[in-house]
Amino acid sequence: MHKLLVFVLLTYSIAPITHACVLKKWNVFVTNDISNDIIARIKSGDDNLGDHTIPPEGNYNWSFCDRIFGHTIFYGYFSWGSKFQSLALFDTHIRELCRLPTSGDQHCYWSLRADGFYVSSYPDQGWVFIKPWN
Ligand SMILES: *[C@@H]1O[C@H](CO)[C@@H](O)[C@H](O)[C@H]1NC(C)=O
Repeated sequence: MHKLLVFVLLTYSIAPITHACVLKKWNVFVTNDISNDIIARIKSGDDNLGDHTIPPEGNYNWSFCDRIFGHTIFYGYFSWGSKFQSLALFDTHIRELCRLPTSGDQHCYWSLRADGFYVSSYPDQGWVFIKPWN
């Protein structure tokens, strides 16, 4: 491949999300379904999204593009009072759980509940239990 084309492809695949993606755009939502604040730290190899306090019924959301080379992984580190848990919020396994055979944007919805962490392709149904709190 021409060097310039390789450069352009790499740049598109790792650039922070603006509007368009070369491949699919993913939107991830982390909703607090507990009646207390949750502190979330979300990181990937490329990005540290920092610490966020998610209030009850609130959500934290972010977007990224599928990469042309390699995989995107985001990890979440969550505190709820004295409880703590860390887990992959997006990796190849979660991607398969959330992926829909539609041409538009893809979505992963996380629901943080008293009994643990659930994920779905939809905001209100199809929940898959992933992990309890520690
Ligand atoms: C996504 O998060 C922003 C704050 O970062 C918030 O203003 C917005 O309402 C959220 N989007 C949805 C659809 O909940």
